Amino acid sequence: MKTLPLLVAVALGLATCVLAGPAAIECWFVEDAGQGGLAKKPATLLLRQGPGEPPSRPDLDPQLYLKVDDPAGALLAAFKRYPAGAPAPQCEMSRFVPFPASANWAKGLIPEQSCPRALDGDWLLVSVSSSILSLSSLLRPQPEPRREPILITMATVVLTVLTHNPAPRIQLGKDAVLDLSFAYMPPTLEDATSLAPGPPPFGLEWRRQHLGKGHLLLAVTPGLVGQMPPAQERSVTFAAWDDNEPWGPWTGNGTFLLPAVRPFQEGIYLATVHLPYLQGQVSLELTVHKPPKVSLTPGPLVWAVPGEAPPELLCRVSHFYPPEGLEVEWELRGGPDGGSRRAEGQKWLSTLHHHSDGSVSLFGHLQPTPVTAEQHGARYACRVHHPSLPASGRSAEVTLEVAGLSGPSIEDGIGLFLSAFLLLGLIKVLGWMAAAYLTIPKNSKKKLMAEGLATQEDSEKKAQ
Ligand SMILES: *[C@@H]1O[C@H](CO)[C@@H](O)[C@H](O)[C@H]1NC(C)=O
Repeated sequence: MKTLPLLVAVALGLATCVLAGPAAIECWFVEDAGQGGLAKKPATLLLRQGPGEPPSRPDLDPQLYLKVDDPAGALLAAFKRYPAGAPAPQCEMSRFVPFPASANWAKGLIPEQSCPRALDGDWLLVSVSSSILSLSSLLRPQPEPRREPILITMATVVLTVLTHNPAPRIQLGKDAVLDLSFAYMPPTLEDATSLAPGPPPFGLEWRRQHLGKGHLLLAVTPGLVGQMPPAQERSVTFAAWDDNEPWGPWTGNGTFLLPAVRPFQEGIYLATVHLPYLQGQVSLELTVHKPPKVSLTPGPLVWAVPGEAPPELLCRVSHFYPPEGLEVEWELRGGPDGGSRRAEGQKWLSTLHHHSDGSVSLFGHLQPTPVTAEQHGARYACRVHHPSLPASGRSAEVTLEVAGLSGPSIEDGIGLFLSAFLLLGLIKVLGWMAAAYLTIPKNSKKKLMAEGLATQEDSEKKAQ
């Protein structure tokens, strides 16, 4: 039975095709070139390799052709999910030097006075950003490239900090959930016994950039005692390790929740995970939006006489955000040609009205031009475009009734006139009958009623 393994291989091959993501990520290695300049060199992260040797890359410095080993799996898993059609991510690489966190609240993370020897050697910081994810990883490259058989350098991922939603767009007043996860595999220690089993303490901070400065919103060091700065703006985080393996790797969750967002909370958010001497940071850009409500007055009908202009129309565009990017268009829909076209007339926008929740409202005005009888039944519409709305926008409309053609038609008018005439006749007849009733003896009442009805019929005939 040789077909079964073959089938399994084919099935696995298909599965990896579906969930493969890019095999390699192209990066720029950026280095200080002295005198304030930066030197850029191409670098590549080989994430996975087909059967056989890695593809030959004579264009790369072998020190910068990196074959990624990711024991915690977060970096590789993130790219496996990367959609095939999506634009390639931007990737930048630089050298990293382990250093203790400087903030007072993070002091508890480093029990030892000196940097452990296990952290000696080269480190690379890789930052990847795209519309799909944003991540940073700390890698330890081997000191020398390996010949397998082309020259390539093995690099082990130690820490990855990652968000799957780097540009959250949140509706004004709703809670913002900023996604963050991290994964850590401690570098091999010469003396592993000095380390307590289980995930290490970590620190997590969330900042918002404001006027070039990072404004601290929240900092936590789960499991460590110490003075923490109070959380700002009622923010909370789910900072925790997901698992409790004795020796790693570990993954953790640092998702951040900002309740009922307001416009002032828009901006760049920096999430930093601190491990003793190691830090990983990603940035996210939060934007707030709110689609406008659109209504039109007067409504649902507007009246005009042929040759005269209907009254001014008022399109209320209310409670939207941001104030920028709003457009109000006026259309005349239906009418003689049936289609929809720009409504003629004088158009202007009112000034913005600011609401306490940060949203704004305004009025769009239209003073339509005089109408013709043929335009009876057409609809004036104001169509509003805003970044928070689908491309077609949102609209409200009002129907034009041209007087003399509308509501009670000519035929209706005649009918109405006749009815009134008849009613008058009936009232008159009833009046006579009542008068007769009072003066005529009882036995002749029935006869008189019949005559009265006959009189009514007569008058109807006459009227017609
Ligand atoms: C992190 O925690 C949040 C809140 O509990 C949850 O919604 C989210 O799915 C978690 N993320 C991961 C990757 O487990």
